[in-house]
Amino acid sequence: MILAFAFFQNFSYFCDIKNTEHNCYENMLSIKNLHASIDGKEILKGINLEIEKGKVYAIMGPNGSGKSTLASVLAGNEIFNVTEGSITLDGKDLLALKPEERAAEGVFLAFQYPVEIPGVSINNFMKAAINEQRKYHGLEPMPAPEFLRLIKEKKELVALDKKLDGRSVNQGFSGGEKKKLEVFQMAMLNPKIAVLDETDSGLDIDALRIVAEGVNKLKSNDNAFIVITHYQRLLDYITPDVVHVLYNGRIIKTGDKNLALELEKTGYDDLKKQADEMYK
Ligand SMILES: Nc1ncnc2c1ncn2[C@@H]1O[C@H](COP(=O)(O)OP(=O)(O)OP(=O)(O)O)[C@@H](O)[C@H]1O
Ligand SMILES: [Mg+2]
Repeated sequence: MILAFAFFQNFSYFCDIKNTEHNCYENMLSIKNLHASIDGKEILKGINLEIEKGKVYAIMGPNGSGKSTLASVLAGNEIFNVTEGSITLDGKDLLALKPEERAAEGVFLAFQYPVEIPGVSINNFMKAAINEQRKYHGLEPMPAPEFLRLIKEKKELVALDKKLDGRSVNQGFSGGEKKKLEVFQMAMLNPKIAVLDETDSGLDIDALRIVAEGVNKLKSNDNAFIVITHYQRLLDYITPDVVHVLYNGRIIKTGDKNLALELEKTGYDDLKKQADEMYK
Protein backbone atom coordinates (compact mmCIF):
# COMPACT_ATOMS: atom_id res chain seq x y z
CA MET A 1 0.00 0.00 0.00
CA ILE A 2 2.75 2.41 0.99
CA LEU A 3 4.75 1.36 -2.04
CA ALA A 4 1.76 1.98 -4.29
CA PHE A 5 1.26 5.39 -2.73
CA ALA A 6 4.91 6.28 -3.23
CA PHE A 7 4.67 5.17 -6.85
CA PHE A 8 1.66 7.36 -7.53
CA GLN A 9 3.18 10.30 -5.69
CA ASN A 10 6.41 9.96 -7.58
CA PHE A 11 4.82 9.84 -11.00
CA SER A 12 1.97 12.17 -10.06
CA TYR A 13 -0.61 9.70 -11.23
CA PHE A 14 -4.16 9.87 -10.06
CA CYS A 15 -6.40 6.88 -9.90
CA ASP A 16 -10.11 7.08 -10.28
CA ILE A 17 -11.62 3.83 -9.17
CA LYS A 18 -14.95 4.79 -10.71
CA ASN A 19 -13.37 5.35 -14.10
CA THR A 20 -13.72 2.04 -15.91
CA GLU A 21 -11.97 3.05 -19.12
CA HIS A 22 -8.69 4.24 -17.63
CA ASN A 23 -7.84 3.11 -14.16
CA CYS A 24 -5.07 5.63 -13.74
CA TYR A 25 -4.11 8.76 -15.60
CA GLU A 26 -1.39 11.31 -15.30
CA ASN A 27 -2.18 14.96 -14.67
CA MET A 28 -3.14 16.66 -17.91
CA LEU A 29 -0.02 18.81 -17.94
CA SER A 30 3.03 17.86 -16.00
CA ILE A 31 6.13 20.05 -15.82
CA LYS A 32 9.07 18.50 -14.04
CA ASN A 33 12.35 20.14 -13.04
CA LEU A 34 12.21 22.49 -16.01
CA HIS A 35 15.34 24.52 -16.66
CA ALA A 36 15.53 26.97 -19.55
CA SER A 37 18.04 29.57 -20.60
CA ILE A 38 18.64 32.26 -23.17
CA ASP A 39 22.09 33.29 -24.40
CA GLY A 40 23.59 31.05 -21.71
CA LYS A 41 21.68 32.82 -18.91
CA GLU A 42 19.46 30.49 -16.92
CA ILE A 43 15.93 31.93 -16.51
CA LEU A 44 13.92 28.91 -15.34
CA LYS A 45 15.74 27.06 -12.57
CA GLY A 46 13.73 23.92 -11.91
CA ILE A 47 9.98 24.48 -12.32
CA ASN A 48 7.63 21.77 -11.14
CA LEU A 49 3.99 22.27 -12.00
CA GLU A 50 1.11 19.84 -12.12
CA ILE A 51 -2.01 20.95 -13.95
CA GLU A 52 -5.27 19.06 -13.53
CA LYS A 53 -8.24 19.26 -15.82
CA GLY A 54 -11.07 21.55 -14.75
CA LYS A 55 -8.85 23.83 -12.69
CA VAL A 56 -7.60 27.39 -12.88
CA TYR A 57 -4.04 28.17 -11.80
CA ALA A 58 -2.80 31.69 -11.16
CA ILE A 59 0.88 32.49 -11.49
CA MET A 60 1.99 35.68 -9.82
CA GLY A 61 5.40 37.09 -8.99
CA PRO A 62 7.66 40.12 -9.34
CA ASN A 63 8.71 41.51 -12.73
CA GLY A 64 11.44 39.52 -14.44
CA SER A 65 10.77 36.31 -12.48
CA GLY A 66 10.31 34.12 -15.54
CA LYS A 67 6.51 33.97 -15.87
CA SER A 68 6.41 34.89 -19.57
CA THR A 69 9.45 32.70 -20.18
CA LEU A 70 7.60 29.73 -18.71
CA ALA A 71 4.62 30.48 -20.97
CA SER A 72 6.89 30.80 -24.03
CA VAL A 73 8.73 27.57 -23.26
CA LEU A 74 5.41 25.78 -22.88
CA ALA A 75 4.26 27.09 -26.26
CA GLY A 76 7.57 26.07 -27.84
CA ASN A 77 9.29 29.41 -28.45
CA GLU A 78 12.63 28.29 -29.82
CA ILE A 79 14.62 31.28 -28.57
CA PHE A 80 14.72 29.56 -25.19
CA ASN A 81 16.95 26.59 -24.67
CA VAL A 82 15.51 23.86 -22.45
CA THR A 83 18.51 22.39 -20.68
CA GLU A 84 16.82 20.00 -18.25
CA GLY A 85 13.43 18.63 -17.30
CA SER A 86 10.26 17.55 -19.04
CA ILE A 87 6.82 18.75 -20.06
CA THR A 88 4.09 16.25 -20.87
CA LEU A 89 0.54 16.89 -22.01
CA ASP A 90 -1.75 13.91 -21.57
CA GLY A 91 1.38 11.78 -21.41
CA LYS A 92 2.84 13.19 -24.69
CA ASP A 93 6.32 14.70 -24.65
CA LEU A 94 5.62 18.35 -25.54
CA LEU A 95 9.29 19.26 -25.76
CA ALA A 96 9.63 16.97 -28.77
CA LEU A 97 6.93 18.90 -30.65
CA LYS A 98 7.14 22.06 -32.77
CA PRO A 99 5.10 25.11 -31.66
CA GLU A 100 2.35 24.45 -34.24
CA GLU A 101 2.15 20.80 -33.20
CA ARG A 102 1.81 21.84 -29.56
CA ALA A 103 -0.99 24.22 -30.56
CA ALA A 104 -2.73 21.40 -32.39
CA GLU A 105 -2.36 19.23 -29.29
CA GLY A 106 -4.28 21.91 -27.41
CA VAL A 107 -1.76 24.38 -26.00
CA PHE A 108 -2.78 28.01 -26.34
CA LEU A 109 -0.84 31.07 -25.25
CA ALA A 110 -2.43 34.51 -25.08
CA PHE A 111 0.56 36.80 -25.44
CA GLN A 112 1.51 39.53 -22.98
CA TYR A 113 2.41 41.61 -26.03
CA PRO A 114 0.22 40.43 -28.95
CA VAL A 115 1.87 40.77 -32.35
CA GLU A 116 0.45 42.68 -35.30
CA ILE A 117 -0.02 40.73 -38.53
CA PRO A 118 -0.48 43.32 -41.29
CA GLY A 119 -2.48 42.21 -44.32
CA VAL A 120 -4.14 39.23 -42.61
CA SER A 121 -7.76 39.65 -41.59
CA ILE A 122 -9.01 38.22 -38.31
CA ASN A 123 -11.34 35.80 -40.12
CA ASN A 124 -8.66 34.53 -42.49
CA PHE A 125 -6.18 34.18 -39.65
CA MET A 126 -8.66 32.13 -37.63
CA LYS A 127 -9.66 30.03 -40.64
CA ALA A 128 -5.98 29.18 -41.29
CA ALA A 129 -5.35 28.39 -37.61
CA ILE A 130 -8.39 26.15 -37.26
CA ASN A 131 -7.82 24.30 -40.51
CA GLU A 132 -4.15 23.79 -39.71
CA GLN A 133 -5.15 22.11 -36.47
CA ARG A 134 -7.85 20.05 -38.20
CA LYS A 135 -5.26 18.89 -40.77
CA TYR A 136 -2.96 17.77 -37.93
CA HIS A 137 -5.82 15.60 -36.65
CA GLY A 138 -6.56 14.24 -40.13
CA LEU A 139 -9.75 16.28 -40.60
CA GLU A 140 -11.03 18.15 -43.65
CA PRO A 141 -11.13 21.99 -43.50
CA MET A 142 -14.08 23.31 -41.52
CA PRO A 143 -17.09 23.87 -43.82
CA ALA A 144 -17.74 27.60 -44.39
CA PRO A 145 -21.20 27.74 -42.74
CA GLU A 146 -19.86 26.02 -39.62
CA PHE A 147 -16.89 28.39 -39.50
CA LEU A 148 -19.12 31.45 -39.85
CA ARG A 149 -21.44 30.19 -37.12
CA LEU A 150 -18.48 29.56 -34.81
CA ILE A 151 -16.89 32.94 -35.45
CA LYS A 152 -20.18 34.74 -34.80
CA GLU A 153 -20.75 32.84 -31.55
CA LYS A 154 -17.23 33.49 -30.23
CA LYS A 155 -17.20 37.16 -31.23
CA GLU A 156 -20.35 37.56 -29.18
CA LEU A 157 -18.79 35.69 -26.28
CA VAL A 158 -16.03 38.26 -25.87
CA ALA A 159 -18.14 41.18 -27.16
CA LEU A 160 -15.60 41.82 -29.91
CA ASP A 161 -16.42 45.19 -31.43
CA LYS A 162 -17.96 44.96 -34.92
CA LYS A 163 -15.74 47.82 -36.05
CA LEU A 164 -12.78 45.41 -35.86
CA ASP A 165 -14.33 43.19 -38.56
CA GLY A 166 -12.20 43.15 -41.68
CA ARG A 167 -9.20 44.69 -39.90
CA SER A 168 -5.76 43.07 -39.98
CA VAL A 169 -4.86 41.07 -36.88
CA ASN A 170 -3.96 43.51 -34.08
CA GLN A 171 -2.89 46.24 -36.50
CA GLY A 172 -3.63 49.57 -34.89
CA PHE A 173 -5.65 47.86 -32.15
CA SER A 174 -5.77 49.52 -28.75
CA GLY A 175 -4.16 47.62 -25.87
CA GLY A 176 -7.54 46.40 -24.64
CA GLU A 177 -8.70 45.39 -28.14
CA LYS A 178 -5.56 43.28 -28.56
CA LYS A 179 -6.20 41.47 -25.29
CA LYS A 180 -9.82 40.81 -26.22
CA LEU A 181 -8.72 39.42 -29.57
CA GLU A 182 -6.42 37.00 -27.75
CA VAL A 183 -9.37 35.70 -25.74
CA PHE A 184 -11.47 35.47 -28.90
CA GLN A 185 -8.74 33.35 -30.55
CA MET A 186 -8.66 31.16 -27.47
CA ALA A 187 -12.43 30.71 -27.65
CA MET A 188 -12.21 29.77 -31.34
CA LEU A 189 -9.48 27.18 -30.81
CA ASN A 190 -10.95 25.66 -27.65
CA PRO A 191 -7.58 24.55 -26.21
CA LYS A 192 -6.93 21.93 -23.53
CA ILE A 193 -4.54 24.21 -21.73
CA ALA A 194 -4.75 27.97 -22.10
CA VAL A 195 -2.10 30.29 -20.72
CA LEU A 196 -3.18 33.91 -20.35
CA ASP A 197 -0.13 36.11 -19.91
CA GLU A 198 -1.27 39.35 -18.27
CA THR A 199 -4.40 39.38 -20.40
CA ASP A 200 -5.89 41.70 -17.79
CA SER A 201 -3.33 44.45 -18.28
CA GLY A 202 -4.68 47.38 -20.24
CA LEU A 203 -8.30 46.31 -19.90
CA ASP A 204 -10.87 48.74 -18.59
CA ILE A 205 -13.22 47.37 -15.96
CA ASP A 206 -15.98 46.40 -18.42
CA ALA A 207 -13.55 44.66 -20.76
CA LEU A 208 -11.99 42.89 -17.78
CA ARG A 209 -15.38 41.54 -16.80
CA ILE A 210 -16.15 40.42 -20.37
CA VAL A 211 -12.79 38.69 -20.73
CA ALA A 212 -13.18 36.98 -17.35
CA GLU A 213 -16.72 35.90 -18.19
CA GLY A 214 -15.40 34.51 -21.48
CA VAL A 215 -12.84 32.44 -19.59
CA ASN A 216 -15.46 31.26 -17.11
CA LYS A 217 -17.75 30.18 -19.95
CA LEU A 218 -14.94 28.29 -21.68
CA LYS A 219 -13.92 26.52 -18.48
CA SER A 220 -14.87 22.86 -18.52
CA ASN A 221 -13.90 19.55 -16.97
CA ASP A 222 -11.71 18.88 -20.01
CA ASN A 223 -9.50 21.96 -19.95
CA ALA A 224 -7.39 24.04 -17.61
CA PHE A 225 -6.23 27.64 -17.45
CA ILE A 226 -2.98 29.17 -16.30
CA VAL A 227 -3.58 32.84 -15.59
CA ILE A 228 -0.47 34.99 -15.21
CA THR A 229 -1.33 38.23 -13.49
CA HIS A 230 0.00 40.93 -11.20
CA TYR A 231 -3.37 41.89 -9.87
CA GLN A 232 -5.88 40.42 -7.50
CA ARG A 233 -8.67 42.24 -9.40
CA LEU A 234 -8.68 39.64 -12.23
CA LEU A 235 -8.91 36.90 -9.64
CA ASP A 236 -12.07 38.53 -8.27
CA TYR A 237 -13.69 37.44 -11.53
CA ILE A 238 -11.77 34.24 -12.30
CA THR A 239 -11.40 32.27 -9.09
CA PRO A 240 -8.14 30.33 -9.10
CA ASP A 241 -7.99 26.87 -7.54
CA VAL A 242 -4.26 27.23 -6.98
CA VAL A 243 -1.97 30.26 -6.79
CA HIS A 244 1.76 29.89 -7.42
CA VAL A 245 4.37 32.56 -6.83
CA LEU A 246 7.27 32.51 -9.26
CA TYR A 247 10.48 34.29 -8.37
CA ASN A 248 13.92 34.11 -9.90
CA GLY A 249 12.99 31.11 -12.04
CA ARG A 250 11.47 29.02 -9.26
CA ILE A 251 8.07 28.51 -7.68
CA ILE A 252 8.66 29.76 -4.17
CA LYS A 253 5.15 29.58 -2.72
CA THR A 254 1.88 27.84 -3.46
CA GLY A 255 -1.50 28.45 -1.93
CA ASP A 256 -5.17 28.97 -2.68
CA LYS A 257 -6.94 32.16 -3.73
CA ASN A 258 -6.25 33.67 -0.31
CA LEU A 259 -2.54 33.75 -1.12
CA ALA A 260 -3.25 36.33 -3.84
CA LEU A 261 -5.19 38.46 -1.36
CA GLU A 262 -2.39 38.18 1.18
CA LEU A 263 0.25 39.19 -1.40
CA GLU A 264 -1.77 42.23 -2.36
CA LYS A 265 -1.39 43.42 1.24
CA THR A 266 2.15 42.29 2.03
CA GLY A 267 3.97 42.44 -1.31
CA TYR A 268 6.79 40.03 -2.16
CA ASP A 269 9.61 41.30 0.06
CA ASP A 270 9.52 38.60 2.76
CA LEU A 271 9.07 35.80 0.25
CA LYS A 272 11.94 37.13 -1.87
CA LYS A 273 14.23 37.33 1.17
CA GLN A 274 13.41 33.76 2.18
CA ALA A 275 14.01 32.49 -1.36
CA ASP A 276 17.27 34.44 -1.74
CA GLU A 277 18.44 32.94 1.55
CA MET A 278 17.46 29.40 0.52
CA TYR A 279 19.07 29.50 -2.93
CA LYS A 280 22.14 31.69 -2.32
N1 LIG B 1 14.63 37.37 -25.36
C1 LIG B 1 15.29 37.58 -24.21
N2 LIG B 1 16.60 37.92 -24.21
C2 LIG B 1 17.26 38.12 -23.04
N3 LIG B 1 16.72 38.00 -21.83
C3 LIG B 1 15.43 37.67 -21.77
C4 LIG B 1 14.64 37.43 -22.95
N4 LIG B 1 13.38 37.09 -22.56
C5 LIG B 1 13.38 37.14 -21.21
N5 LIG B 1 14.61 37.49 -20.75
C6 LIG B 1 14.98 37.70 -19.33
O1 LIG B 1 14.40 36.66 -18.56
C7 LIG B 1 13.98 37.16 -17.29
C8 LIG B 1 12.53 36.77 -17.08
O2 LIG B 1 11.72 37.48 -18.01
P1 LIG B 1 10.17 37.22 -18.14
O3 LIG B 1 9.68 38.05 -19.27
O4 LIG B 1 9.93 35.76 -18.22
O5 LIG B 1 9.64 37.79 -16.75
P2 LIG B 1 8.15 37.97 -16.20
O6 LIG B 1 8.08 37.25 -14.90
O7 LIG B 1 7.18 37.60 -17.26
O8 LIG B 1 8.13 39.54 -15.92
P3 LIG B 1 6.91 40.60 -16.05
O9 LIG B 1 6.10 40.46 -14.81
O10 LIG B 1 7.64 41.92 -16.07
O11 LIG B 1 6.16 40.33 -17.31
C9 LIG B 1 14.22 38.67 -17.33
O12 LIG B 1 15.41 38.93 -16.65
C10 LIG B 1 14.35 38.97 -18.80
O13 LIG B 1 15.16 40.09 -19.04
MG1 LIG C 1 5.81 38.68 -18.37
